[in-house]
Amino acid sequence: MNILILNGPNLHVIGTREPKIYGSRSFDSFYQELSAGFQNIRFSYFQSNHEGELIDRLYQAQEEGIDGVVFNAGAYTHTSLALADAIRAVSIPVVEVHISNVASREEIRRTSLIASACVGSISGFGLFSYTLGCYALLDHINKQVE
Ligand code: DQA
Repeated sequence: MNILILNGPNLHVIGTREPKIYGSRSFDSFYQELSAGFQNIRFSYFQSNHEGELIDRLYQAQEEGIDGVVFNAGAYTHTSLALADAIRAVSIPVVEVHISNVASREEIRRTSLIASACVGSISGFGLFSYTLGCYALLDHINKQVE
């Protein structure tokens, strides 16, 4: 099983960026632990600050035979119809994740343009949202193949 962890803008500075909201652990350190914690799963990771690169990575994932994507689109969550279209266009299940509880923040963060294109959404559990996202994605994929 191949899982892609996909991170959008400003998520490369998790650990130093607004630590009261996003915590003080770097994503790289978390990713090492996450990818070591699931047996028989091959992880890949991609982060970009550019909308088009995230779209390209989704299409590339399909070509590579990636089985599922755990996606934190950052602020593009709230603005990007193009990302929502790309998620719909690929036939790979995508789980939306957020570190912070977007429902409890500013009004604009309560809207996700990508949520309806995803299998489901997990928000508010810090970096553990990604771990939960992986569990949810694997459960979804396993149910699809049953
Ligand atoms: C975020 C929430 C977004 O609103 C914000 O723009 C981010 C991070 C989160 O993980 O909590 O960049 O996606």
